[in-house]
Amino acid sequence: MADKKAQLTIGGETWNFPIMEGSTGPDVVDIRKLYASTGAFTYDPGFTSTASCESALTYIDGDEGVLLHRGYPIGQLAEHSNFMEVSYLLLNGELPNAGELADFENTISRHTMLHEQLMTFYRGFRRDAHPMAVMCGVVGALSAFYHDSTDISDPEHRRISSHRLIAKMPTIAAMAYKYAVGQPFMYPDNSLSYTGNFLRMTFGVPAENYEIHPAVEKAMDRIFILHADHEQNASTSTVRLAGSSGANPFACIAAGIACLWGPAHGGANEACLNMLREIGTPDRIPHYIERAKDKNDPFRLMGFGHRVYKNYDPRATVMQKTVREVFDALNVTDPIFEVALQLEEMALNDDYFKEKRLFPNVDFYSGAILSAIGFPTTMFTALFALARTVGWVAQWNEMISDPGQKIGRPRQLYTGPTERDYVPVSQR
Ligand code: ACO
Repeated sequence: MADKKAQLTIGGETWNFPIMEGSTGPDVVDIRKLYASTGAFTYDPGFTSTASCESALTYIDGDEGVLLHRGYPIGQLAEHSNFMEVSYLLLNGELPNAGELADFENTISRHTMLHEQLMTFYRGFRRDAHPMAVMCGVVGALSAFYHDSTDISDPEHRRISSHRLIAKMPTIAAMAYKYAVGQPFMYPDNSLSYTGNFLRMTFGVPAENYEIHPAVEKAMDRIFILHADHEQNASTSTVRLAGSSGANPFACIAAGIACLWGPAHGGANEACLNMLREIGTPDRIPHYIERAKDKNDPFRLMGFGHRVYKNYDPRATVMQKTVREVFDALNVTDPIFEVALQLEEMALNDDYFKEKRLFPNVDFYSGAILSAIGFPTTMFTALFALARTVGWVAQWNEMISDPGQKIGRPRQLYTGPTERDYVPVSQR
């Protein structure tokens, strides 16, 4: 394959560019020397045809609906693994043995508390602040509290800051919730699992014992696994771009959280549940399908469509099964599950959605589960941020450890005025 080349002809002159081959997936035309040799840039504003880096973490085949973390299919991880094990896998490249897993869990649990001064930081927010606004602020502020792990050239600093971020996210998210509802902050309890601890910090109160429902703990942990990493999506690319300048990891993850907040990305699960509630009953579904198809109506079916998946999102398959388990375990009779199932069926049989290859994505069912567990919709994206932190951190580490890493600096197609002389205000 070494002699496979791509040829580009501009104005009659032809250049050859090398082709790089991954372990699987599409080949990549290496255009790093394009500008130097031809004086032209490529134009790809949404990065639909651009590989921004090499990565060994996550592989997606969007046409086949495949998602692998370090080679392991997401369905197998969701079924048999747990979030701590998947976190170890993403960070270290291999599944841990029993001793390695116990050590990792122990390390993470030793970093779950927040600096006490951060409590006062929370009190500066309005009670009705969106949890994502609080998360952006508090995670960014970690760099003001943990100076001893912000030297990105030191692998030990990088390791500690990664562990801190993964360990503190549940505490930060739970505190954002507690602050909004006016209840006391709950300190972590390190005798509990990562996920059980998060549920207790969110829904427990100091006045009484909090019983963790095993089905809820399992479903929540599975949701964390399903959101752990997803290749070079918008927020991960944001983390990498912020990190490429040498910014500290806490600042980079805060940037990722900001990007995740948008409704086209992490905010879609909140938007999807709101949409399902607005639809309300199955008889109203056709009206909303028609609206989604109408070019003059900005409405889109939230939780449908994906930049990469042109097939069923494998995470949505697991989510659909998990909704049933949680609803059964908690005796939930919320009609939105029925609305979601029928909406999915009608959309999948509709020519518009078939032709555009629009399928349910991970967010289509996650809102129904989170709502049944008791989370307000505003917390949904915060939970996504909590889980995705491990992916962000693993991708950030991969980037910083790459000796060929450069600051990310795209170019542009300039369409503004060409050079002209300044005119004094009296003559304009
Ligand atoms: N409802 C109706 N039409 C849709 C939808 C939808 N949910 N998604 C895409 N389309 C249509 C577009 O109108 C467009 O039609 P056109 O070719 O006639 O103009 C075509 O399908 C392609 O859509 P694009 O927006 O160009 O595709 P892109 O890859 O840029 O967008 C995205 C992907 C943002 C996810 C889009 O499908 C969408 O907005 N979905 C709803 C929001 C959502 O669920 N986001 C979660 C994504 S998963 C995640 O972040 C975890």
